[in-house]
Amino acid sequence: MSANVLLEVKHLSQFFRIDRHTTIRAVDDVSFHINEGETFSVVGESGSGKSTLGRTLIRIYDAHSGSVNFMGKEIGGKLNSDSRKFLRKNMQMIFQDPMASLNPRKKVLDAVAFGLDINHLSGDKDERLRKVVKVLKSVGLSEDHLTRYPHQFSGGQRQRIGVARALIMEPRFIICDEIISALDVSIQAQVINLMRRLQKEHGLTYMFIAHDLSMVRYLSDRVAVMHLGHIVEMGTVEDIYEHPLHPYTKSLLSAIPHPDPDAEKDRKRFVYLKGGVDYNIGTIRQLSDTHSILATDEEFSRWQQNDYSLFLK
Ligand SMILES: Nc1ncnc2c1ncn2[C@@H]1O[C@H](COP(=O)(O)OP(=O)(O)OP(=O)(O)O)[C@@H](O)[C@H]1O
Ligand SMILES: [Mg+2]
Repeated sequence: MSANVLLEVKHLSQFFRIDRHTTIRAVDDVSFHINEGETFSVVGESGSGKSTLGRTLIRIYDAHSGSVNFMGKEIGGKLNSDSRKFLRKNMQMIFQDPMASLNPRKKVLDAVAFGLDINHLSGDKDERLRKVVKVLKSVGLSEDHLTRYPHQFSGGQRQRIGVARALIMEPRFIICDEIISALDVSIQAQVINLMRRLQKEHGLTYMFIAHDLSMVRYLSDRVAVMHLGHIVEMGTVEDIYEHPLHPYTKSLLSAIPHPDPDAEKDRKRFVYLKGGVDYNIGTIRQLSDTHSILATDEEFSRWQQNDYSLFLK
């Protein structure tokens, strides 16, 4: 299998300095790549650094250190105006709360055309309108919605507006940050199916940031598990869900409820106790071409021998 690499991240870090004594290492030396056309998911508990990673890639934040190669161009360091334009056009991000990213006083037409407008890509009035109508239709909205305001839509429809806003730029890569977590369960599947259809139609590549591990399994090709700013394990869906090795991954997976209530009652939980593992002294180890974990020599050999005595309660 030879795939084209769309995004290659090396030793990326993003630290937030809170005060003279405190620095949060939100993203701490992460390396990974994303292949063209795939869905790469990033999972991990709240505060593990997932959104910061996404925001750093799209340059809402400037990275503390590391390199990001996107479509053959280095976009991790200082950006000139050409590379900034290139990035704005080809990489988009969709957020959890569409209401927060939509201006309540802007009609759908203007909200969706926003990216075109600020990048001087709208063309004349007719062309702008044509582009917006086309993209609205492709996300399941219609021309009738053009003159309405965000508050006149349901949560699911608002998220479709968020998707349209990203899609109108005809990007190659979209970072989806918890885009379904604020929606009703019945609506979640609709948005996911929409994203899958758009991926096929436009050959899109996704980085999906998510909490819901069942959903991640369903929609991803590869998965990175993040904890405390580090990628602790990474692999194909099969590597991660069928052969997890890192105790943190095991604990996340064991937190997924079993659909059968009897099995659920008897289920043993895998409990990950913090403090036992210092991620800064571990290094990345390959279990196979696709599967890697962050571990010290000792951890690696223990875990390979299925010795998780330090983690089981
Ligand atoms: N702008 C910021 N300034 C200071 N600290 C920040 C900032 N953004 C995030 N952090 C901190 O960085 C760490 C990682 O936060 P981040 O939002 O990336 O986590 P997350 O994995 O996306 O969590 P969640 O699942 O809750 O969205 C947290 O400790 C958070 O408090
Ligand atoms: Mg987040």
